[in-house]
Amino acid sequence: MLRGWSKKTVVELVKSRLGEASFVVVSNRQPYIHKFIKGKIHCLRGPGGVITALDPVMKEIKGLWVCCGSGDADKIVAKDNKVNVPPEKPSYQVKYVWLTKEENLGYYYGFSNQALWPLSHLVFVKPIFREEDWKIYKGVNKKFAQSIYEEIKDKKAVVFIQDYHLTMVSKYLKEFKPDVVTILFWHIPWPTYDVFRILPCRQEFLEGLLSYDLLGFHIRYFCNNFFEAVANELESKINKETSTVIYQGKSTLVKAYPISIDFEGISTKSREKEVEEAMVSLKEEFSLEGYKIIVGLDRIDYTKGIIERILAIDKLLQLYPELKEKIIFIQMGEISRIHIAQYKQLNDQINALVEEVDFKHSTDSWRPIIFVRRHLSFSELLAFYRLANVCIVSSLHDGMNLVAKEFVSSRCDELGVLVLSKFTGAARELKEAVLINPYSQRESAEALFFALSMKEEEQKRRMRALRAYIQRNNIWRWIGKIVADIPWK
Ligand code: G6P
Repeated sequence: MLRGWSKKTVVELVKSRLGEASFVVVSNRQPYIHKFIKGKIHCLRGPGGVITALDPVMKEIKGLWVCCGSGDADKIVAKDNKVNVPPEKPSYQVKYVWLTKEENLGYYYGFSNQALWPLSHLVFVKPIFREEDWKIYKGVNKKFAQSIYEEIKDKKAVVFIQDYHLTMVSKYLKEFKPDVVTILFWHIPWPTYDVFRILPCRQEFLEGLLSYDLLGFHIRYFCNNFFEAVANELESKINKETSTVIYQGKSTLVKAYPISIDFEGISTKSREKEVEEAMVSLKEEFSLEGYKIIVGLDRIDYTKGIIERILAIDKLLQLYPELKEKIIFIQMGEISRIHIAQYKQLNDQINALVEEVDFKHSTDSWRPIIFVRRHLSFSELLAFYRLANVCIVSSLHDGMNLVAKEFVSSRCDELGVLVLSKFTGAARELKEAVLINPYSQRESAEALFFALSMKEEEQKRRMRALRAYIQRNNIWRWIGKIVADIPWK
């Protein structure tokens, strides 16, 4: 079953592997958020890689998704805390867990995003460990466990938990229901032991992770880092041959599953008229006609190397002044975690740097950088990718990076060049991208120049190979491999 994973093969596999068992996906972020816009309720798809990957899966599998509710209209649309999504074609159910402001501060802004996030990404931002945050984090994880338990009390169930926000859920859930099968996928890098060992609650944290039956990482390297942490911290038996850890008599399977996207879905959609119309209007809105276009698209996060990218554009124009009035770099950024000081500072730093570089190189009728902070609809997103001559992903450290994979999948014309940081999980798979060390301005600028000058024939050769790779290694394969490995007791 290594080749040809599709919606159909996965749905069949899920049916045969799960039988009567319920399938529950759990994440911090909600796949759909209900908001009041100009007095009317709108339902928008949430941001981030987890949702990009899992929404198409859930539409097919039709399970239950448990997550935080944070939209100002979520409580209004939910009945018994549950709502059917997406509104235009309801295909699965979302259950909300409501958090207080204090819980949000300690669990999301505190332990998740000021301790675990910087701990896991090697970008030289110091993690902040507060005992109180850890306590609140555990309390919220317990709340999730309770909410899940209410849905699966008398049922056989597989609970698939997402990411670093919810590592302790399995432990608490199993206290209520020991026979539940739990899986956790860690969507970000797992650090080396030298870094991990600074986490004050590391033993309890690892014990929480070892209450899962299956633990997934993007790449083997992260699994090995995890094994090293366990070997150093807990008396356990690690069997690298079978990829398992046995701790206090309980076994956890630990494996790599590189996440991906719905290649066929994106590729088909990117050919639609709606996308072509959006290309025309984006071109008009930002006056892009006649220029070679470099695009960037990220949550505004210090791991994404946005500052480094702007500096690379600056260097590019210094090294190749003949590109003035010929290129435009347009960066779309979605505001993120703004209540954390580093994110606020980063936003201010970006504003100042864009202004500086634009001022330095601009002419009467042209400026090199356009920075836009706004949410794009799915059609606009695909249109944005399709307008690009070059897409740059310059993360300083990234578990996988799905922007890179989305860009490739959207290029049904087989044109466009991907410039990709070596420090993303995706770089291990997408060999035909132009790889960069984003810390080197010269290397990044030269890579951009190389990409901008690439002949169409060579663009096509690379893009075809990239597309063939993602087509084979798509989101269905990711979920299929995980479901095939469910360790039934
Ligand atoms: C990363 C994390 C996700 C998270 C996303 C967006 O991709 O792995 O778990 O949802 O970033 O971040 P946010 O804090 O806005 O949910």
